[in-house]
Amino acid sequence: MHILVCGGAGYVGSHTAYTLAQHGHEVTVLDNLSTGHRRAVRWGPLIEADLLKPESLDAAFAHPVDAVMHFAAKSLVGESVADPYEYYQHNVAGSINLLRAMRHHRVQRIVFSSTAAIFGLPSSLPIDEDHPKSPINPYGASKWMVERILADAASAYGLRSVCLRYFNAAGAAAQAGIGESHMPETHLIPNILKSALGEGTALRVFGDDYPTMDGTCVRDYVHVLDLANAHVRALEFMQTHDGAHCFNLGNGTGFSVLQAIEAVRSICGVPVAYEHAPRRPGDPAALVASSRKAREILGWSPQQCDLEQIVASAWDWHRDPAY
Ligand code: UFG
Repeated sequence: MHILVCGGAGYVGSHTAYTLAQHGHEVTVLDNLSTGHRRAVRWGPLIEADLLKPESLDAAFAHPVDAVMHFAAKSLVGESVADPYEYYQHNVAGSINLLRAMRHHRVQRIVFSSTAAIFGLPSSLPIDEDHPKSPINPYGASKWMVERILADAASAYGLRSVCLRYFNAAGAAAQAGIGESHMPETHLIPNILKSALGEGTALRVFGDDYPTMDGTCVRDYVHVLDLANAHVRALEFMQTHDGAHCFNLGNGTGFSVLQAIEAVRSICGVPVAYEHAPRRPGDPAALVASSRKAREILGWSPQQCDLEQIVASAWDWHRDPAY
């Protein structure tokens, strides 16, 4: 199939473009390169276009498109709290522009990049798809709004969609020349690796008084290539299923910040310096996914479930990043 990957120069988008190409699909990337990397676009042409400039989107549909995968979004929780207009504009209005362009060009299938942030502070663990949606920041709210729009579009226009709610994406495909590179970097695993490499500012551990095994936050880390594989599964699923569907994607095991630091220390064989810092506003104590639905319905089974495997692949990339 010919897949238009919006946001394909970014972290999860580029790994999905790589995985799609490996499965024999033809890929075109649409990206405005505001946070993505030109060097991460390696499996098809890049169309530089902006979802907020609808007239720029037609070029992406000049070649027939069988499905869209939509990763293009702003994704920093703190920034979303400080500037909600920007988040709703880019993530919601931008998505509507993309959906309108798809409708205009009669493209009826989309996989949407969603997040655990739609659940807010979880009332129970593990979090399954039916857990109440109460996002606590504009980033999570913007993603939930797009999920709602896709559900309405299924009824109104017959649009087929799959929303994939990632828990904590981590790892890299260094062998393919792609990995995680954000500016600024706010994510835990890359920050630990930078600390191990003596790069960046000192690693801070946000909060040590959460009701968890060691007082630090617990997250469900899932390999970015396993997430990418779920997109290929979602594409196959949409061949035979109409309507709007959603799946939570994680390994189902939670690791604390201190456990993640220990995993890096053990893989890299170097000490990791860190200091304790106050809680980061908006961080839930623990997020762990139930991915039973994805396993049962999509036939998804993550291949790199072990935190040390995930960290090792991220380390391969961070030692010699291509961008
Ligand atoms: N953390 C640190 N030090 C750091 C970075 C992170 O202690 O330098 C901690 C955080 O406080 C958190 C944990 O490590 O407890 C994980 O933080 P990340 O920033 O790596 O990831 P988040 O869990 O905050 O982010 C995830 C998804 C987002 C989503 C968010 C919603 O990656 O897409 O959950 O809660 F928005």
